Amino acid sequence: MSQSSGSQFKDRVLSGMQPTGNLHLGNYLGAMLNWVKMQDTHETLYCVVDLHAITQPVSVWGGPDILRKSIRDVTAAYIAAGINPKKSILFNQSRVHEHAELTWVFNCVARLGWLDRMTQFKEKAGKDKERASVGLYDYPVLMAADILIYHATHVPVGEDQKQHLELCRDIAIKFNNDFGIEFFPITEPVIMGPATRVMSLRDGTKKMSKSDPSDLSRINLTDSPDDIARKIRKAKTDADGLPSEAKGLEGRPEAENLVGIYAALEGISAAEVLKQFGGGQFSSFKTALGDLAVTKLSPITAEMNKLLADQAYIEGVLTDGAARAQAIAAPIMQDVKKIVGFL
Ligand code: TRP
Repeated sequence: MSQSSGSQFKDRVLSGMQPTGNLHLGNYLGAMLNWVKMQDTHETLYCVVDLHAITQPVSVWGGPDILRKSIRDVTAAYIAAGINPKKSILFNQSRVHEHAELTWVFNCVARLGWLDRMTQFKEKAGKDKERASVGLYDYPVLMAADILIYHATHVPVGEDQKQHLELCRDIAIKFNNDFGIEFFPITEPVIMGPATRVMSLRDGTKKMSKSDPSDLSRINLTDSPDDIARKIRKAKTDADGLPSEAKGLEGRPEAENLVGIYAALEGISAAEVLKQFGGGQFSSFKTALGDLAVTKLSPITAEMNKLLADQAYIEGVLTDGAARAQAIAAPIMQDVKKIVGFL
């Protein structure tokens, strides 16, 4: 049993991103850059998780036209950021039906008690959990299927997805135990460090987020150079200037965030940023940060717009990606059916 895809790498990476058009600097520094790097060391599959998108109310994901647009936008953004669709398998989840098929089997492996402990469900469902969709509750099981349908060994995610990955391991272990076979790998989380955690420009204790009502809180990948410079100029800071050592950032979340963004964009450490700007005022640092952000982001925005003007290209990437993904997923699903006893 099991498969070989003919890749030159022994480790297989899978990660997923929600189709939302509103990609921002947090997505870029926190996820996209890491994914781009992993293409050189691992076999990589990157999945636009449209099945996950519909677990929220239609009013949240916007309906069919917006969903189609969001899937294209996010695909274009990832390519523009450096995902090479020839190296990586870039596809959308709903085209590879094995994700949904394996989810059903995993629904019968996962226990209610495990899902009851998922903190993201509690956050997303809010006070009235009776009104949440069954799909939202089942979200982590679908995520486990996304990973295990490819026997992925490494999954790069943010800190907030750690609990879901533990669930994925529990499902793999229980499946293997229930059927007495070492079939699914025990997947390693690759937690993308706090250095790449980008916080809101209005409140350094909150994550930069597409759902923040204030657009000033985030830098969108589609922002113009003027927008970017203005948002950084207006970013919240405190009354002190920049410290000359990283230690001086402690307890100053806004200062730490801006220095962290500069460091991540430039690919240097916070200490190195402070060597250059420490002791100075925020105003001149903000000008430098605005310039740097524009330099790094505007080529991506331009490339994204160019790609989106060529719908046939995006369509071709997703069709090719789905075929390559399915070539790995289908034999694994066949094995699962045999193992479970389906005729
Ligand atoms: N839940 C993930 C997030 O919100 C997205 C996701 C779906 C994912 N399926 C995945 C991430 C599989 C990694 C692997 O970020």
